[in-house]
Amino acid sequence: MRKLERRQIPFSPPDISEAEIEEVCNALRSGWITTGPRTKLLERRLAAYIETGDTFFDTESDPDRWSNRVVCLNSATAAEELNLRILGIKEGDEVIVPAYTYTATASAAIHCGATVKFVDIRKDGDPITHMPEIDYDALESMISEKTKAIIAVDLAGIVCDYEKLFAIAYSKKSIFVPLKSDGSALGELSSRIQSSLGRIAVVCDAAHALGASRIINGKRRYVGDIADFTSFSFHAVKNFTTAEGGAATWHAFDGVDNKEIYKFYQLLSLHGQNKDALAKTKVGAWEYDIIGPWYKCNMTDIMAAIGLRQLDRYHGLLERRAEIINKYDKTCDELGISHLVHHTNYMNSSKHLYLIRIPGIDVETRNLLIEKMAEKGIATNVHYKPLPMMTAYGNDCSDYPNAYDYYKNLITLPLHTLLSDEDVEYVCCVFKDVFCEVN
Ligand SMILES: Cc1ncc(COP(=O)(O)O)c(C=O)c1O
Repeated sequence: MRKLERRQIPFSPPDISEAEIEEVCNALRSGWITTGPRTKLLERRLAAYIETGDTFFDTESDPDRWSNRVVCLNSATAAEELNLRILGIKEGDEVIVPAYTYTATASAAIHCGATVKFVDIRKDGDPITHMPEIDYDALESMISEKTKAIIAVDLAGIVCDYEKLFAIAYSKKSIFVPLKSDGSALGELSSRIQSSLGRIAVVCDAAHALGASRIINGKRRYVGDIADFTSFSFHAVKNFTTAEGGAATWHAFDGVDNKEIYKFYQLLSLHGQNKDALAKTKVGAWEYDIIGPWYKCNMTDIMAAIGLRQLDRYHGLLERRAEIINKYDKTCDELGISHLVHHTNYMNSSKHLYLIRIPGIDVETRNLLIEKMAEKGIATNVHYKPLPMMTAYGNDCSDYPNAYDYYKNLITLPLHTLLSDEDVEYVCCVFKDVFCEVN
């Protein structure tokens, strides 16, 4: 092995500049630290960015502070759960989830009382991007009259084939049974949404995919404005962070007012309370009602302060990720190693994770490779161990052979914007050495 000067390379540290620190201080000094003006501004700016809302907006002119189909929350998990609750997912419903994802994709549906049906991925993933995408044929065969939603995962920030997913949902229209209202305000809204859809909902777990886009019917569409419902994560390890945090977005449904939907997200995320803390500060406006015994998962203005300044920098952060990916691609191509393809003529990913698969190795050799990289100071990871292998999901992957095959020789290399060119070179050199050693 060549002698390289040792470096310490963390897997995914947050990229926080003085601008984020200053904005957090401004929020702390402002006298308003929970959900308030900064959260509302972040929602509007995100809506403009992913094109679910207007690019130009006037924060003063909207008394309802409606945010153009984006609601900021405290995590992607909360966003996904609220998406499913607005959709009316409940006990007795089935939700289809790829076997190859993080637990939150499935657990949010379970929290709603639904049964999760796992589907294997395509062998070796998508033929072009190599992303471990759900097997669309297997997915189609899993659909029953109980199926209410398919959850697609834009893993690593690579956008799934939504044209195919919508085509499957439409092809099963005749067996779809929309929710009957139970008479409650939420039940009534969910029932109208399901009737307006008239088919299984296509839901997107976009925890990794803020800023990713795909050409659909000849037009570039951003994740957040593609599926019927989408959830983003702003967790500390993500491309775009608010420390913890996330956002829910939805597509417009014929005959359902977006302001009404927005209001229900607010209610669901704040105890079902019909006035938030800011509204209650108005003179004489102390009294409130509790519409339902709901949840507590709102974003604070301190979190939003980080997000506002991250969003100013996000374009540059994505460009830097693209540069690192180009360097990794060259190394992997030289070694004949399969890697994710983050950019095609129809898709631009958010470049969140760099997954590679080493041909012909088993789990033990893969783990040895990870250890050897760690000995040289480089943190790597595995995205993901298939969910059916986890204790909570039955600890048995035998029905998901493609997911297992994908996982067994997979390594995720560090990809983040604190990596210098020298760090990237170090990762490539160490990886080449370790790869030759174990092969
Ligand atoms: C695919 C996927 N979905 C959902 C989540 C949950 O995100 P959060 O921690 O913001 O709830 C994660 C987190 O890593 C994830 O990777």
